[in-house]
Amino acid sequence: MSAISFIKTLSKDHKVAALFPSTAAAAKKIAGEIKPGCKMVVEYGAGDGAVTKEILKVMPPDGRLVAIESNSDFVGELGKINDSRLEIISADVARISKKLKNFGPIDMIISGIPFTLFNPRTREEVIADSYGALGSGGKILLYQHYLLMLPYIKKIFGKNIRWYVEPRNFPPYWIMVGEK
Ligand SMILES: C[S@@+](CC[C@H](N)C(=O)[O-])C[C@H]1O[C@@H](n2cnc3c(N)ncnc32)[C@H](O)[C@@H]1O
Repeated sequence: MSAISFIKTLSKDHKVAALFPSTAAAAKKIAGEIKPGCKMVVEYGAGDGAVTKEILKVMPPDGRLVAIESNSDFVGELGKINDSRLEIISADVARISKKLKNFGPIDMIISGIPFTLFNPRTREEVIADSYGALGSGGKILLYQHYLLMLPYIKKIFGKNIRWYVEPRNFPPYWIMVGEK
């Protein structure tokens, strides 16, 4: 999708919450957090697939990536990715987070959704549901322009968390990682 189309989608849907998709460098960095051999990945807010495509590059041939996206234009764009490992779910993460366990133990959850738009209770529920759906040693990665979600990850993942800046995005991202 072109930058202009991305901005047009934002103008129709405030949940998009970004002027541009993630840069290639930021998307590679995010996908680089996936442990080798990781078979089951869930992506929240896949957008037009900037991060999705990088995730698929590092996943094994028998891996499975479930991409959850609420915007129908982006769901259509994701549908153009020709990869049998990718399953696209058109839904609001906050509404289906309780069903994440149905996917079986998840190795990694990668989220670019704007948690700012959720109330504090929903933020905590989504992180708690994510924790519950991860297998032992599973990871969650959140990328955002601010550290809003850090206290929530600390509360639910305990000490097994880290965070750093990825400057090669516009605007730069905070990347927050929690391990179960
Ligand atoms: C900041 S954009 C990131 C897009 C893409 N992952 C990227 O890195 O370029 C946030 C994405 O999350 C989606 N989104 C926002 N709230 C959502 C929700 N509650 N459930 C599912 N998707 C959501 C938006 O439609 C948008 O595609």
